[in-house]
Amino acid sequence: MLDDITRISSEFDAALAAANTAAALDELRVHYFGRKGGLIPALFSRLKEVPKEQKKDAGDALNKLRDRLESELKEKQERVAAEEAKRKESRDIIDVTLPARLPNLGHLHPVTIIRREMETIFSEMGYSLDPGPEVETDWYNFEALNFTPDHPARDTQDTFFLDVEPYLLRTHTSNVQIRSMENHTPPVKVLSCGRVYRRDEITMRRSPMFHQAEGFLVDKGIHIGHLRATLEHFIKRLFGADSKMRMRPSFFPFTEPSAEVDMSCVFCKGAGCGTCSQTGWMEILGCGMIHPQVLRNVGIDPEEWSGFAFGLGLDRCAMIKFDIPNIRTLFENDLRVLQQF
Ligand code: DAH
Repeated sequence: MLDDITRISSEFDAALAAANTAAALDELRVHYFGRKGGLIPALFSRLKEVPKEQKKDAGDALNKLRDRLESELKEKQERVAAEEAKRKESRDIIDVTLPARLPNLGHLHPVTIIRREMETIFSEMGYSLDPGPEVETDWYNFEALNFTPDHPARDTQDTFFLDVEPYLLRTHTSNVQIRSMENHTPPVKVLSCGRVYRRDEITMRRSPMFHQAEGFLVDKGIHIGHLRATLEHFIKRLFGADSKMRMRPSFFPFTEPSAEVDMSCVFCKGAGCGTCSQTGWMEILGCGMIHPQVLRNVGIDPEEWSGFAFGLGLDRCAMIKFDIPNIRTLFENDLRVLQQF
């Protein structure tokens, strides 16, 4: 009996040291003091088997054991309860000195950045902004712009036709020239930025949907010098004051004469590099003097008024400005990319 008391006493010490939660301590309590099968009550019920002359010693030892275990268990239960309460309290306290969590801020898309910069540059020159419709008729997208029904230049703009005649998805923003000139008597100055559509395969440089900007101006006495000065100002503002430009003769049905504009390569500053195929130049836009027939189509007398127009790809500008080699990068909307702008 006395041996059992000593053994249970030291086993309890180890078990108590290991129990550090209220739940573990309660388990311990049941194990030692539980009415059914608790070790201490079991020892007491064994007292009656102890021979008479040992009974007193055994009873004393057992009483001492019970008292010690009870008080130590109670003491630890109180300590653990106090610690748990303290931990809960500190979880509930708001530490106002901690830095705040930053909200997830959105970013402007690279094409939006370019569009807004262009809109600022041309607004400052007095241009109005007019995005125009993306669903268009043959008249506004082609015919009024001097693309006759069998004009070969139609083939270069592979068109998405809608089921409902005569609607199509505009292939360029030049439709806004016609719509604006119809709605406003000259002088007019308009910049139009928006989506355009062509039946192209997706490649590094092409996408069936992309973005264009179109600018045009109609007034008295406008000549190609005004066009050149306007474009030079625009290119220097968007790509840097050291940018140079040159015009090459070209052809568009709605302008005469027409030109293609190159600017000095932004990467090598004109020295020649891989990106500009060692030429030092990058093609950036198409332009020209508005064809007299286009003016006549919207009821403007070409003897009295003249104007210029230009068009460019906003995606291409974004790719040049931010050094993005693949147009797909602009449309995949990968947050890891967009967060950089
Ligand atoms: N609309 C032409 C295109 O999509 C771009 C263009 C060229 C627009 C010359 C113009 C211009 O206004 O004068 O390829």
